[in-house]
Amino acid sequence: KRARKALLPAATLAILATLLPAAQAQTVLKIGYATAKDSHYGVGSTVFCDEVERGTQGRYKCQQFPNSALGGEREQIEALQLGTQDLLNTSTGPVGNFVPEMRIVDLPFLFRDYAHARKVLDGEIGQNMLAQFPKHGLVALAWTENGFRQMTNSKRDIVKPSDAAGLKMRTMENKVHMDGYRTFGILPTPMAFPELFGALQQGTVDGEENPIPVILSAKFAQVQKHLSMTNHVYSPALLLISPRTWDRVSVADKKVFLEAAKKGAAAQRKKVNDDEDQGLAQLEKAGMTVTRNVDSAAFREAIKPAYVGYAKEFGADKIKQIQDVQ
Ligand code: PAF
Repeated sequence: KRARKALLPAATLAILATLLPAAQAQTVLKIGYATAKDSHYGVGSTVFCDEVERGTQGRYKCQQFPNSALGGEREQIEALQLGTQDLLNTSTGPVGNFVPEMRIVDLPFLFRDYAHARKVLDGEIGQNMLAQFPKHGLVALAWTENGFRQMTNSKRDIVKPSDAAGLKMRTMENKVHMDGYRTFGILPTPMAFPELFGALQQGTVDGEENPIPVILSAKFAQVQKHLSMTNHVYSPALLLISPRTWDRVSVADKKVFLEAAKKGAAAQRKKVNDDEDQGLAQLEKAGMTVTRNVDSAAFREAIKPAYVGYAKEFGADKIKQIQDVQ
């Protein structure tokens, strides 16, 4: 009888011990991205994080690392593979070095406009690409967005490829871009983004190319005089999660993460559009000369030799399949 009395409180304690940590446990996820918290990457990441926290009743929350605080995009992808970082909102620029199936989306002049790019990526082609990540030690939750890339430099206005010829321009660590830009006569200099502001300031490179939201957020107007609306390549982005983290998330919570990623992506795309609508005036005010009348036909003509190589590498049919999406 005495033994039974002693058992009761022990059982109660055991139940409490299992319930209490479950009620209190909170996993903090590290998420990194290249630009400031109020940039397109920050807006998308914040919506994602808020939705995850709400949808999991606070069992998950994020700690955000904006401004490349965890390193360049390539380094952060490596950290996801190792499991030392949980999440990354990144351009596809360096992703093709890890997931070769991704390289095709960075072809210059592949996408006509935002509607075309978003339709391809949200459709069968883009969703099939997301499914390729796990076999390369990564998990992709959603396509986010960086935006159409524009050229900036310290030397002259660029209207046609011959104006760009001879300029030493920082590019992403992306062979597809570099092969394309060489056909414009540019001297591509691959460099991680965190080093770029200093390189522009010191004149190590004459220019760079990035979407308006990045040019605004990184304050490139302080170190670059000329902006040309070349729209030469659409820069897709992705919300990636470490497989180590993903494996620990329950099936029900995985659904929350995926829904949150869609909402984050929508917010990020909206911010890209808003920045483009309002950004040029801001950049002009900050002292940049904006060239709007770029000879797009001349750039498309110049890129043709690069497309011979792209067709060999990716298949002309695969490129056409993307271009044909209406
Ligand atoms: O130029 C780059 O490397 C990328 O566009 C950036 C700024 C890191 C955003 O993804």
